[in-house]
Parts: sequence; C-alpha cells; structure tokens
Amino acid sequence: MSNVHLINHPLVQHKLTLMRKKEASTNSFRRLLNELASLMAYEVTRDMPLQDVEIDTPLETMTGKMIDGKKLVFVSILRAGNGILEGMLNVVPGARVGHVGLYRDPKTLTAVEYYFKMPHDMQERDIVVVDPMLATGNSAIAAVERLKELNPKSIKFVCLLTCPEGIAALQKAHPDVPIYTAAIDRQLNDHGYILPGLGDAGDRIFGTK
Ligand code: URA
Repeated sequence: MSNVHLINHPLVQHKLTLMRKKEASTNSFRRLLNELASLMAYEVTRDMPLQDVEIDTPLETMTGKMIDGKKLVFVSILRAGNGILEGMLNVVPGARVGHVGLYRDPKTLTAVEYYFKMPHDMQERDIVVVDPMLATGNSAIAAVERLKELNPKSIKFVCLLTCPEGIAALQKAHPDVPIYTAAIDRQLNDHGYILPGLGDAGDRIFGTK
C-alpha cells in the first residue's frame, strides 16, 4: 500500500471511534469530524515547503519560516466533503477552496458531475481533495481526473475512512495521488457502503436521515 498514509495518532483513533457509534448525535458527529479534520491537516501539510520570511520581534530582526497558505487549495467533494473543510481551514486559514459536485448513480454507482468551481491559477497550486469516505473510489477518481485537466502542482486525497477496494481503485486510476486516511476498514458491501464504517457520512453530518 505504497502512497497510503494511515494517520493512527491516538487522538484521531479515539475521535473516529466516537463518530462510528450509531448513537452519536448529529451535533457530536459534526464536532468530532471538525476536530479530526484539523488533526489530519497537520499530517497532510507535513511536507509543505516553507519560505524564509524576515520579521521583527520586539527585540531584533530575524528570518522565520512560513507556509504560503494561499497556494494550497482544499477541494471538497460535495456534500460530505464540506464536513472536513472547516477543520482543515482552522489549521490553514489562508487556503483557497474549490468544490466538486458529484452524485453517485444508485444503479451503476458511477460518479456524475453537476458542479465544478475552482480558484484561478490552479497550475500554481497544491490541491488537497477532501471526502470523508473513499468507498468505491468512483467520485474520487472522477474528481481527480477533472482536477488534473487544470495541471495543478500536486494532488493529495484525504478521507476519514476507506477500504481495500477504494484504495485499489484510486491507486489504479491515479497512482501518483497519495491517500491520507484515519482507517482502512474491512470491505465494501453490495450497496457501496464501507463495513464496519460509520454509515452515510453526508446524512450523519447534516442530519438528513
Ligand atoms: N459513502 C458514505 O457516506 N458511506 C459509506 O460507507 C460509503 C460511501
């Protein structure tokens, strides 16, 4: 599983287990996802290049290091990806945000695009695509395919949960895209849900079921 980064920090694992519980309320599910996304952002941005910046402390001038947050774009796969956005933006507030709207055809489970809005100058930017669940991989593959048309500097994919089928599909289609996840679950069921999973992430974030 080269190119797969399993984020197994104890805080991440603890919060994920709380989220999986079927009795977790919409409120606590959303709050936990927000906290988890911030923790995952640390890992995802670990290799971001720093630039030297001259600053004045109250005592003298020094050269500090800073990330150019504006070069980073978080791309949310609607709608569940929006549950991750806020937590990521807490850690990188200067990042830009793009949205990709894809729905899963219930019969074929393939992704159909209905919305695509990105910041300008994408060829200068590093992209982090966010979606809580990497299940069949169809949405992730379609989103990355579309984003590659814009020639960005790099693309990473971040999810909360995935499974061997989702990883295999995304890696086959886009072997150059690293995957960051908090867990790799057992399998996909016949309806494209991850087992044991946490159910429908969008419904749990937005309280729509
Ligand atoms: N999408 C979800 O929300 N949950 C799954 O288990 C799979 C895809």
